[in-house]
Amino acid sequence: MVVDVVTLFPEYFSGPLNCSVLARAQVAGALRVRLWNLRDFTPDKHGKVDDTPYGGGPGMVLRPEPFFAAVAALAPPEGTPVILLTPQGEPLTQRRAAALAKQERIVVLCGHYEGVDERVRGRLATEELSIGDYVLSGGEPAALVLIDAVARLLPGVLGNEASPEEESFSTGLLEYPQYTRPAEYAGLEVPEVLRRGHHAEVRRWRRKEALRRTYLRRPELLPRAALTEEDRQLLAEIIEELSETT
Ligand code: ADE
Repeated sequence: MVVDVVTLFPEYFSGPLNCSVLARAQVAGALRVRLWNLRDFTPDKHGKVDDTPYGGGPGMVLRPEPFFAAVAALAPPEGTPVILLTPQGEPLTQRRAAALAKQERIVVLCGHYEGVDERVRGRLATEELSIGDYVLSGGEPAALVLIDAVARLLPGVLGNEASPEEESFSTGLLEYPQYTRPAEYAGLEVPEVLRRGHHAEVRRWRRKEALRRTYLRRPELLPRAALTEEDRQLLAEIIEELSETT
């Protein structure tokens, strides 16, 4: 997959892109990230990329021309997602990341300052994504989050590590608790069922704990998770257990 990132701060990406999974994904040839400096595409002879907002008010707005010129120069094939990162975008979800991981190419536009000229949203970006309900000083950290979430789903990137299908959200539920050695630490014990290692019991326990965690922390995820008859039974047990302890 090729990811073209248009940003005022290409240097922001060098650390994270050269570590861990993102570095490996690039070495393996699964991911190629190209960084483009927005400033190189401005028609302003002094390199200015922003201007004051029409109608007045504080702050600066990023002009539309550099974004349009950058995307025109990249000439992405018809149908390539052109994603503007903004707190006003649709929330980035595991489902969206998985859909983007199927693309051969995506273009990512990072905003900065007070905002981006509305014509970039309406005409250039095919979608707007937000990584959460808080405001960052720019789209760069959000672009890195997006690239990470997508890259680890690309074939061959995680190798033999934990399969992405088992983890939080892929099943529609939060992940079950994990333990490793020692069996007892500071008086805290690893649950007996995990130590016994009976496959079917472990599976049931994990499913139940994933359901418990989701029910307690993110109940709004449950209606959208594909629950089996066994899951409903486990949930009933959880609710029963909770009513006993209160
Ligand atoms: N730019 C600033 N804040 C953002 C957020 N929460 N998500 C995506 N892009 C952003």
